[in-house]
Amino acid sequence: KGLNTYAKKAGKLYFGTAADVPGTNETTDKYYRAELANNADWGSVTPANAMKWVFTEPEQGVFNYTEAELFLAAANPDGKRKVRCHNLNWYNQLPNWVTSGTWTNETLTAVLINHVTHLVEYFGDRCYAWDVVNEALSDSGTGNLADNSTWRSDIWYNTIGPNYVAVAFKAAEAAVKANKLKVKLYYNDYNIESAGNKATAAQALVKSLKDAGIQIDGAGLQSHFIVGSTPSRAAQTANMNAFAALGVDVAITELDIRTTVPATAAAQQQQVVDYASSVGACADVNACVGVTAWDFDDAYSWIPSTFPGQGYGDLFFQPGGYGTPLVRKAAYD
Ligand code: XIL
Repeated sequence: KGLNTYAKKAGKLYFGTAADVPGTNETTDKYYRAELANNADWGSVTPANAMKWVFTEPEQGVFNYTEAELFLAAANPDGKRKVRCHNLNWYNQLPNWVTSGTWTNETLTAVLINHVTHLVEYFGDRCYAWDVVNEALSDSGTGNLADNSTWRSDIWYNTIGPNYVAVAFKAAEAAVKANKLKVKLYYNDYNIESAGNKATAAQALVKSLKDAGIQIDGAGLQSHFIVGSTPSRAAQTANMNAFAALGVDVAITELDIRTTVPATAAAQQQQVVDYASSVGACADVNACVGVTAWDFDDAYSWIPSTFPGQGYGDLFFQPGGYGTPLVRKAAYD
C-alpha cells in the first residue's frame, strides 16, 4: 500500500512529491503535514520554491540556505528520502540584482557559474538529482537548436546565447567531480512529454551535451497536464524511449492534471485514466526512474493562481476546506 511502495515494487527508485514549505499554509496544516510525512506514499521530495535563486542568492555572492534547510527539515527529517533539488538555472524567480543588472556575456556567465558551483557544493549528496537548467526552450520553436525561435527569449539566452546551457552543466559537473558526488544532473522542461518540436529540441539539447562530453544524466518531463488532453500512455512511452536512447534517465518531475473547476463527474473519471497514462508510461520504460507529483493537495496547488478557473489537479483534496482532513481521489488508486 502506498504510492512509493508500489513504485519500488515496479522497479522504480521512488514516487515523490513537491512541497512548498516553509512559509506557506502547508507548513501549519497538520493534515497536510501528516500526509507529507507518509513514507509509504513519498520516497522523494522536491522543494517547490525553497532552492530557487531568489531565495538562495538574494544578493550577489551572498548565499542563503535558510529556506532550503527548513524545507529539508520538514520534508526529509530523517534524511532517508531522495531529494530532487530544483533548480539551478531558470528565467523565473530570479532576484532583482540578476534581472535588472547590466550584464555582458562574460559577467553573466561568471554569475551563473558561481551560483551553480555554490549550490551543488553546499547540498552535495543530500540531493539525489539537480534540475540544472529549467525551461530553456520556447513553445513555438522549430525543433532545431540553430534557430532562434527554438529558445526561450530570456536573460540567459539573450545575454549569453544558447551556450549558457552547456556553461551551467559544465559548472555542475565540475562541482560534482571536485566533491566526488553522486548527484544526477537533469534538464527539466514542460511540453516535452510527447513527440513535437519542443521534445525534438530537448532531445537535440541532451545529445549536444552528450556529444560535447558534458555530464547530463537525465531529462525531467514536468507533465503539467490537462484532463482529457494528457498524451496517451503509448505517446509518453515512445517519447521516454527517445530520450533514453540518448543515454539518459528520464523522470516525471512535476505531475499534475488540471481541469475546469468545479470538476464534473466525467472529468473526475477521465483524470483517473490520465494519471494512469502517465504513471503507467513510467512503469513501462526502464529508463524512467520515478514520478514526482507537483504537490499532492489541491488546497495548496499552484494551478488556480497560474491558470484561473482551473484546479483539481492533484491526488488529494480537502473537501472540508483548508486545514481539514485530506481525501484521496480515485486517481490515487
Ligand atoms: C511554481 C511553484 O509551484 C509556485 O509556488 C511558484 O509561485 C511558481 O513556481 N514549473 C516549474 C516549477 O519548474 O518551478 C514551477 O513551480 C511550476 C512550473
